[in-house]
Amino acid sequence: MNILVIGSGGREHTIVWKMAQSSLVDKIFCAPGNAGIAELAECLEVETDNLSGLLEIARHNSIDCTIVGPEVPLSLGIVDLFEDNGYPIFGPRRKAAEIESSKVFAKQIMNKYHIPTARSQDFEDYYEALSYLEKQSFPLVIKADGLAAGKGVIITKDRFEAELALGKIMKERKFGEAGRRVLIEEFLTGEEVSMLVFSDGRNILPMITSQDHKKIGDNDEGLNTGGMGAYSPVPFFGEKEREFVLTRIFQPVISSLEREGRLFKGVLYAGLIITKEGPKVLEFNARFGDPETQVILPGLKTDLMEIILSSINGTLDRVNPVWSKQFTVCVIMTSEGYPGEYVSGKTITGLEKLNEREDIIVFHSGTKKDDGKTVTSGGRVLGITAWSDTLKGAIDKAYQGVDEIYFEGCYYRKDIGKKGLHFLRNAN
Ligand code: AMP
Ligand code: GLY
Repeated sequence: MNILVIGSGGREHTIVWKMAQSSLVDKIFCAPGNAGIAELAECLEVETDNLSGLLEIARHNSIDCTIVGPEVPLSLGIVDLFEDNGYPIFGPRRKAAEIESSKVFAKQIMNKYHIPTARSQDFEDYYEALSYLEKQSFPLVIKADGLAAGKGVIITKDRFEAELALGKIMKERKFGEAGRRVLIEEFLTGEEVSMLVFSDGRNILPMITSQDHKKIGDNDEGLNTGGMGAYSPVPFFGEKEREFVLTRIFQPVISSLEREGRLFKGVLYAGLIITKEGPKVLEFNARFGDPETQVILPGLKTDLMEIILSSINGTLDRVNPVWSKQFTVCVIMTSEGYPGEYVSGKTITGLEKLNEREDIIVFHSGTKKDDGKTVTSGGRVLGITAWSDTLKGAIDKAYQGVDEIYFEGCYYRKDIGKKGLHFLRNAN
């Protein structure tokens, strides 16, 4: 089969790496890809929001199956376009992808079908939202309804901050049309866990759990980022929690989307928070997470392509995936300045030293080739990923990998996986 992967991050590098191991795959294309992906796939310079350009690639290269990484093409309806033109594609159609692209819609579904989540109220009118604040206690979470590249969620500690946030989202339209509506939501406390499932529209197939590290600084301090690292599985998320999340969250959401005429095929990702009252949903994503995918897919022993085809064909109930029992850890290395304005074009050294290692892999995000050298070209640059029988072993190995790599101004968190380790130490 000829495969097309859409995207250019560590998530897409991981997907391409799995595809390269599949006995069902002959040739891999990626649009637009990066320097790491280019070693496994033919990269084509078409951006992820250029839907007609992507369809043209599928036509020109006789693509048998397309896999969509990021949310933007899903929200624009890439799956509708490809399916309507007879090209098989893995992901939800636009109306199903609204579970991610409209937080108000996701909340309506959760409220209608009694799925545990934070209490909230949505507003289209700025002044109504302002007056609602008068009767609330703080902290409160203010969320832009639409896609905002992970920046549309603002946690406010008092009314003044909440008014500023509403102004920024609804009046200044800092996130454009995404801020036409807002959700004002109760603030929840607890550990966060990411859980992802494959879905064929009816059946679900859970993946192993993982934990992202969203803040730029150690001990979860500083600004939010796209994700500074992850580990899998999460030791404090046991069988009981997993069962609860599958039966009380994923199954009802998948069935309700079908009932609402929005059959969900693809990967459904729940950002969960484990509160004293049990797990609750913070958000849904309609795709693989990044960096979560970099720690989930290395543990998948079953052919990913087989699962994807079963999801497209509606036969996921016949697949019985095998997962490794090992722990996987991914440490993200970023460019100087990230998550603000960052520096690019720095030469990366040390990559070849890790090529020989079977238990460490470097997934690329913002990298490109320049005059034969690999240089930085984005905020998040590399995901150094390692696995081992113990979480401690996987953490140590990932950081050994980090030590081999250098580019000017590189930065990474030193505490990826620490929460899991802490839990395991206290449990023993
Ligand atoms: P979201 O994009 O909705 O997952 O929000 C991004 C991040 O904001 C989450 O990973 C949480 O850390 C935080 N967050 C979102 N909603 C809430 C909430 N209701 N209570 C506390 N933190 C939240
Ligand atoms: N890791 C967060 C996301 O993929 O949205």
